Amino acid sequence: MQKFNQLDDKGRLKHFLSIDGLSEDLLLSILDQAQKFAPIVDDTGRASKSVPLLRGKTIANLFFEPSTRTRTTFELAEKRLSADILNLDISTSATTKGESLLDTLTNLIAMRVDMMVVRHNNSGAAHFIATHMPPGISIINAGDGRHSHPTQAMLDMYTIRHYKQKFAGLSIAIVGDIEHSRVARSQIKALNILGCKDIRVVAPNTLMPIAIKTLGVTAYNNIEQGISGTDVIIILRLQTERMQQADLPSEREYFRFYGLTKDRLKLANKDAIVMHPGPINRGVEIASNIADSVQSVILQQVTFGISVRMAVLSILAGNTAKDKI
Ligand code: CP
Repeated sequence: MQKFNQLDDKGRLKHFLSIDGLSEDLLLSILDQAQKFAPIVDDTGRASKSVPLLRGKTIANLFFEPSTRTRTTFELAEKRLSADILNLDISTSATTKGESLLDTLTNLIAMRVDMMVVRHNNSGAAHFIATHMPPGISIINAGDGRHSHPTQAMLDMYTIRHYKQKFAGLSIAIVGDIEHSRVARSQIKALNILGCKDIRVVAPNTLMPIAIKTLGVTAYNNIEQGISGTDVIIILRLQTERMQQADLPSEREYFRFYGLTKDRLKLANKDAIVMHPGPINRGVEIASNIADSVQSVILQQVTFGISVRMAVLSILAGNTAKDKI
């Protein structure tokens, strides 16, 4: 993939495409900014659930691949910041009449949009789009192929910091289909930058990237060993839509060897939290009673996703909340 600088010459974010090359300070500033927005997301008693930080800005949401959580939490974040929103329905857009992606984008530029949130099944799509933007328009990667999902990684970092207050000294296991996961790649980069020293990945060989050790993790094929003594367990689903051939005998077999069950969870630390970016597949990568257990913070991740996406949007707009809101 072509190297592309998502920072301006003063080191500020002009696009948010991947976790690559970002500093610890920048990641922490996103988490701190999100914390300022959390009362807006949480407080049902507030007279107003929005702030005018992005008033007058127009944001286009372009989802070329299905999404529930990312699309809706971006839209909520944009509304909470008082932005004007364009939701492109890709199935009825002119791309279905043969218009190229770039021609669709130049039309959005002509409409004077300020930011585009892009999800695409091709790795590198958000970088490609960013290279074709005039100055002043920011691209936010909402997930591209198996490459990167930076706002998911940041909401996961927010969740870990919320429950564990730190990154150094934690043991964190990412369990599942690492090979096809943009979420795992982004989480691993963020955890390394934030100082986590024990990052484990757990998967069968067929779902483990060949060069995984170069990413600064310890690889396990055995889930019992991989999650023993961990503080955080992140479960990933099988991304069958990105599998070329049968990488697995069956889902039932996968659950038998890699599913997170009550007995397996007992091997982690007593206060371990269980995370999952969603969508979850009960009885495939996670037992239903674990997904619904007190150790599961899966739905809290979704809530945190709103304030984290508010933080990213406001930082890109250069219009952040200075104090607690
Ligand atoms: N975690 C995540 O990206 O979920 P969606 O595909 O529903 O957006």
